[in-house]
Amino acid sequence: MKTLVTGGTVVSSTGRSQADVLIDGETIAAVLPTGSTILGFDVAANVDTVIDATGKYVIPGGIDAHTHMEMPFGGTQASDTFETGTTAAAWGGTTTIVDFVVQYPGQDPLEQYQLWHEKADGNCAVDYGFHQILSDVQDSTLTAMDALLKEGVTSFKLFTAYKGVFLSDDGQILKAMQRAADNGAMIMGHAENGSVIDVLVQQAVARGDTDPIYHGLTRPWQAEEEATHRLIMLADLTGAPLYIVHVSAKQAADQIAAARARGQNVFGETCPQYLYLSLEEQLGAPGFEGAKWVCSTPLRSRAEGHQNHMWHSLRTNHLQVVSTDHCPFCMKDQKEMGIGDFSKIPNGIGGVEHRLDLLYQGVVTGEITLERWVELCCVTPARMFGLYGRKGVIAPGADGDVVVYDPNGHTSIGVGKTHHMNMDYSAYEGFEVDGHVDTVISRGEVIVDGGQFRGRAGHGEYLRRGLTQYLV
Ligand code: URP
Ligand code: ZN
Ligand code: ZN
Ligand code: ZN
Repeated sequence: MKTLVTGGTVVSSTGRSQADVLIDGETIAAVLPTGSTILGFDVAANVDTVIDATGKYVIPGGIDAHTHMEMPFGGTQASDTFETGTTAAAWGGTTTIVDFVVQYPGQDPLEQYQLWHEKADGNCAVDYGFHQILSDVQDSTLTAMDALLKEGVTSFKLFTAYKGVFLSDDGQILKAMQRAADNGAMIMGHAENGSVIDVLVQQAVARGDTDPIYHGLTRPWQAEEEATHRLIMLADLTGAPLYIVHVSAKQAADQIAAARARGQNVFGETCPQYLYLSLEEQLGAPGFEGAKWVCSTPLRSRAEGHQNHMWHSLRTNHLQVVSTDHCPFCMKDQKEMGIGDFSKIPNGIGGVEHRLDLLYQGVVTGEITLERWVELCCVTPARMFGLYGRKGVIAPGADGDVVVYDPNGHTSIGVGKTHHMNMDYSAYEGFEVDGHVDTVISRGEVIVDGGQFRGRAGHGEYLRRGLTQYLV
């Protein structure tokens, strides 16, 4: 099966060119100046499928490096399965996800890794890899990290919050970082001071301040900045590379920037919710509505300027990646568990389908360049998590993961049930955005085309990732 994507503007992190992309089987065979012949051989006349990308951008398939499909959390389970979640991802131009295997205290990390394979294998519409969440770090955990590395799980998330659920103490974090410094793994950090937050939450609930907005008010930026700084110091002590997930506070982004300026291997991601949504407008919506936007780290105050600062941090490479932290819960029966007590609202927002479109608005408004859009959404996630070469690039030998993006198209997000995620609402309800994902190709198969889903559960393959390719 040969496919030619012709007439488009191929965009990478470093530039753009008018080029045709020839995909042979599962891989990219050639990138040629538009309309080329190869030794007099008419390429377009000798392929099975020609996709006309005239006037459109041709970019590497998106990589969402932070998702939680069917994750047991907050007394319930994230509402997207690997099938529904990866199908929604495909609709939005994301052809690779990296999901988190969860190890709760007392569980065996390797057994959990096998369990995640049972959930995902044969069910994904796009390719997938795994990070591993570690909670209680024991000596056996350190051995498990070595074993997981061989399985292609090369990054481990540790938490400074959620006592009794995910929180590791500083000594445990130190040990995991020492191991990572030895074996080359990436440490990912959920940076919020959990002890401080737990007290503020108890005090708020005791006062009767139980509306969703108190979720944000009891997780102040100081708790994020402090934990971000602490993790950076522990990483510096051990020499482990550190990637801070879901950065929302401008002060936390600045801690990452300062560490990078000192030459430390510290990286950060933010998510569309922290670029577009706020404590005042969404979390503070009347009644229980704000529950739709309860996630951690929380949405922050627009008056304090966090959202603008996230854009600034993306421009300046103080932050390197945009992921979604896709962790969807329905309002009915799930978010509703927290009526009368915000601390019982399951934490998470879904958005795996909308990342490319939402970030493209940054190109439209001039916050980021077209090339930076591709870098943040497609290229750097691949390099950061050991997938580059196969993923994140349109070049001969790479997987045939290609998105045709129409800059003159238009996307209405979440008006009625227009999305494909298994959620009964949209966090971006009513967003009208420029740009449209027209065609999505995953390892040579056209899985989305002209408003039709042509993929299938089971097409997606497990990706054994290598070590990070992003170190300074
Ligand atoms: O609220 C969030 N972010 N839920 C998902 C779990 C996590 O901490 O990433
Ligand atoms: Zn987290
Ligand atoms: Zn997460
Ligand atoms: Zn279109």
